[in-house]
Amino acid sequence: MIRAGIAPSFTLESPSGTAVSLRDFVGLYVVLAVVPLARSPQARDAVAHLRGLAESLSPLEARAVALLPQASQGLSRVASPSVILLSDPAGVVAAAYGVVDEPAVFLLDRSGAVRRTWTGLEHSEEVLEAVREIRAADDAVNSLIQARRAWRALSPEPVPREALERLVEAAHLAPSCFNNQPWRFVIAQGEALAKVKAALPGGNYWAKTAPAIVALASHRDLDCKLSDNRDYFLFGCGMATGFLMLQATQMGLVAHPIAGYDPIAVKEALGIPPDYVLITLIVVGRRGDPSTLSDKHRALELGPRDRKPLPTVLMWDRFTPPEGTEER
Ligand SMILES: Cc1cc2nc3c(=O)[nH]c(=O)nc-3n(C[C@H](O)[C@H](O)[C@H](O)COP(=O)(O)O)c2cc1C
Repeated sequence: MIRAGIAPSFTLESPSGTAVSLRDFVGLYVVLAVVPLARSPQARDAVAHLRGLAESLSPLEARAVALLPQASQGLSRVASPSVILLSDPAGVVAAAYGVVDEPAVFLLDRSGAVRRTWTGLEHSEEVLEAVREIRAADDAVNSLIQARRAWRALSPEPVPREALERLVEAAHLAPSCFNNQPWRFVIAQGEALAKVKAALPGGNYWAKTAPAIVALASHRDLDCKLSDNRDYFLFGCGMATGFLMLQATQMGLVAHPIAGYDPIAVKEALGIPPDYVLITLIVVGRRGDPSTLSDKHRALELGPRDRKPLPTVLMWDRFTPPEGTEER
């Protein structure tokens, strides 16, 4: 039975002959009860359980869907109109969800990802609680965004190559103007890493412990160049870096971008052509001991996150910096 990831897509028929696809529910939570061929007689139980849930789900932007070997008109009358019944006569979709022996319930989120699963059908209370909980968490600021920090205390423990590759894989899924993908990543390990570290100024002493440093280079010709000096390569690379940092946070890694380095020395060390812009180095590793940091950095590491008040950066309808700020 699948437990996470994007839910397998399907298009199946309802008892009235309408084709219904999973993508029809984008933007809604879906409680999906799947009854495998081997358990056809349990279709009625599945429908009864969903019927008990459907009314409570509706105000939570959630829908109840039953995938049954045979979704008949008779069953849909039992179900009430708020439960969507679909026929999966060959059990192909059930198999894609890994449901072969026991019926199962899947909770899919608004983006179509599987967030919770249950074996068997008798979990109505738990399912409802899970929808409430997950929806509240999804409406808050993303937990990876909240957890990410520019940590400086790093352990020298190596990060496996596959993990480093995964970070760039995530970065590479960032959007870019015309899908130009202007980012070029060079991961420094071994000899190259020592050379990059030699190009760090004193203030970035902490990065010398890192087991890997990722260089991000690009060139304005690699992305859109529009009027009003809108060169988009830096923007695209910034987004890719954001994706990389969140992926690292999810993997329990630190990914700390820095601007403090000698760009000519790093480009030379890594063979990056001189006409490319070395936009940032991203220092990667696992969190280490804060006592290795300077007093200033230890205070930042252990202190709260520092941000300007939201009205300084958020305006409604008109550019109106708050009173007393220097900004024009
Ligand atoms: C483009 C860029 C350059 C940065 N350069 C450095 C740097 O050279 N050295 C350093 O210690 N931190 C550097 N930082 C980290 C910032 O100081 C840090 O992100 C900021 O203080 C906010 O803290 P937070 O990321 O923990 O929320 C840089 C961050 C960015 C995005």
